[in-house]
Amino acid sequence: MISINDQGLEFHLQTKRSSYLIKVTSTGHLVHLHYGDRLTHRPQFNALEHLYHDKMGSSTDYADIPGQTLNTFRLEVPTFGKGDYRSPLLHVEYTDGSRVTDLLYQSHQLLDSKPSLEGLPSASAERDSHHLVITLADPVTKLEVDVHYSVFSQSDVITRHLVVRNHASRPVQLLRALSSCVDFADESWDLIHLQGKWIKEAQIARQSLEKGTVQIDSKKGVSSANHNPFIALARKETNEHLGACYGFGLMYSGNHLSVAEVSPYNQTRVMTGINDFDFRWELESGERFTTPEIALTYSASGLNRMSQQLHQFINQHVISEQWRNVERPIQVNNWEATYFDFDYDKLDAIAQKAKSIGVELFVLDDGWFGKRNDDTTSLGDYFDNPKLVGGIARISETVKDYGLKFGIWVEPEMVSPDSELFRAHPEWAITHPERTPSLGRNQLVLDMANPEVIDYLFEKLSDVFSRARVDYVKWDHNRNFSDSYAHSLSAKEQASFNHRYVLGLYDLLTRLTKTFPNILFESCSSGGNRFDLGMLSYMPQTWTSDNTDAIERLNIQHGTSLCYPLSAMSAHVAAKPSHQVLRRTPLETRFNVAAFGNFGYQLDITQLTEQETQAVVEQIAFYKQHRQLLQFGRFYRLSSPFEGNITTWLVVNDDGNEALLGYYQKLQQSSGELETIKLPALNPELAFIVRSRAQYREEIETTDTRVNSELYQLYGDQLASVGLPLNNQFMGVEITEHTRYIGDFGSRIYHIMAEGY
Ligand code: DGJ
Repeated sequence: MISINDQGLEFHLQTKRSSYLIKVTSTGHLVHLHYGDRLTHRPQFNALEHLYHDKMGSSTDYADIPGQTLNTFRLEVPTFGKGDYRSPLLHVEYTDGSRVTDLLYQSHQLLDSKPSLEGLPSASAERDSHHLVITLADPVTKLEVDVHYSVFSQSDVITRHLVVRNHASRPVQLLRALSSCVDFADESWDLIHLQGKWIKEAQIARQSLEKGTVQIDSKKGVSSANHNPFIALARKETNEHLGACYGFGLMYSGNHLSVAEVSPYNQTRVMTGINDFDFRWELESGERFTTPEIALTYSASGLNRMSQQLHQFINQHVISEQWRNVERPIQVNNWEATYFDFDYDKLDAIAQKAKSIGVELFVLDDGWFGKRNDDTTSLGDYFDNPKLVGGIARISETVKDYGLKFGIWVEPEMVSPDSELFRAHPEWAITHPERTPSLGRNQLVLDMANPEVIDYLFEKLSDVFSRARVDYVKWDHNRNFSDSYAHSLSAKEQASFNHRYVLGLYDLLTRLTKTFPNILFESCSSGGNRFDLGMLSYMPQTWTSDNTDAIERLNIQHGTSLCYPLSAMSAHVAAKPSHQVLRRTPLETRFNVAAFGNFGYQLDITQLTEQETQAVVEQIAFYKQHRQLLQFGRFYRLSSPFEGNITTWLVVNDDGNEALLGYYQKLQQSSGELETIKLPALNPELAFIVRSRAQYREEIETTDTRVNSELYQLYGDQLASVGLPLNNQFMGVEITEHTRYIGDFGSRIYHIMAEGY
């Protein structure tokens, strides 16, 4: 809901549990009054405007009004050059060389429908929602900025973006155009973000903000695993269950920047958007530039609530309608099973076994095209590899004859120097004419800013998808940018390449997803190197990490869940020992971790022993039975793998009468303590039966010993306030029917069901 007090030009955006309040000052600037707990709407909010009234030493006063220095205004769209010395949201260079911009209120408008963002993905609106546009302008330079706000009441999310228009007769240069700024009133904050690298994505980093500026960004061309385009701001005391915090998720897949700056006056500025490093965008007279949309959310009740709000927003408004709340199939992927070493018979054997154990989707990964038998060749060539007799059409037919869906791997944005495509079109690769290009995984990046490249890819991919009757596509991207020089762009356009690349990618994805609405796309970039809201708006799921080791995945999935829902995170059971860390993790733990996500297998299932096959059949049946909850349930991080030996996760249904609890132990402790786990969100009135999933011991390869099943009966209020009193683990003496047999890297899933349901 959006309420406007016309007299004071105050704008009040309300979600179910939050208020976002801004107003126009007497100087004409748009300032921030409040973002936090929901306030009752009042006819005026004058009293909340908190400005200095007296003259300040060493200040630059705006229009000679004492105390009115922009340096202490809490600005919604800060610019540079009129006395605000903090980082600006917008920085512009004009033809006369000046870089001063002063944006003043012009008008506002409430829109009934949410405008789409030119060339960029955007969240689909809630029904009956309103959208606010406030237009600001610089009276001297004629630069106009539309500041867009949309309210997603049910998810407690507000989205923002800018449209910058050049009304002058001469071009201007955008040096920085971020998406949103929130100026908080004080400095007492922690900044939380997800840092990482290949096979170690989404590691939670939390630091106290001090005076000065903290920046996290990507310069890699993709949003990157180094710093995900998501940040949170939390009070020092905020934890998973208590305390105030804010989440900021950018809907963008390229270079991004987040800035958290504490000023000398203890105000905290938080901004996010396209990275201005290596960015310059010329706006001709009459042209406009649209920044990506960003989702902001506020929680008064800890980080779990913040994440749940973002999860709901993503599931309801970011994921395309076609895939919204649609259960995702269980897949088998041949990558870690075969790598490049496969032929028709091998794939056929995997598909047959997949069918017999209950898998629903067979995915043919890298190596089916050109002469690709390793990673040195053929990216860009879309004809069948001779090693696969009958090509993708034949294996697809076989797979479909078994009643499975057929999926295929592609890496469209890349080209191998050893490929027919590169020999035909060397100018389509990103290379500088006078430099030997640096390679990443032996490949070059294609010029996605060139419409000819987009047309070529659309045509080739359409052919592949049609001739193999593809149901699912894994869209990979395996190198970061270097040697950035696009042959299709003029000298003065080169510094806009990074953003033009993303626009080209989004154009291609828009065309493909419209043409093939029934294909389920999964984004991948060496795992989670491009896990962001931009990709999720075209591809409802992402390959979370190339690290398939369950114990490493605890951290990766735990961290990823800060912003992204379980339905977006793909997670597979892989081989033992792990191909990434050589760890020997029990098969049941590999399942228990992967089950909290979009589930599949990525090991040679034809080599499973009889006992393992039996375990896998039971795992698949369990996942199918609880898939709705495991993909779309309300997710709680109860204890963190970043902090201790035990990790616990909970998913609860909307009615609070059913839940699943994941319990994971890194190392067995000697003479361990009694453990109790408090379970929130269940209906306090109901009586619950808590039963551990029937599973096998680690020695599954040689025995068929099942672990004893645990059973507990408690009421919802007892589970929440006292906790689930778990049986003791092995105490070093005897194993009885009560012993929780967990061991190193052991785990359980507990099904929690209200009696009578
Ligand atoms: C990187 C991906 O993350 C892997 O899952 C696999 O698809 C390989 N690329 C194939 O080259």
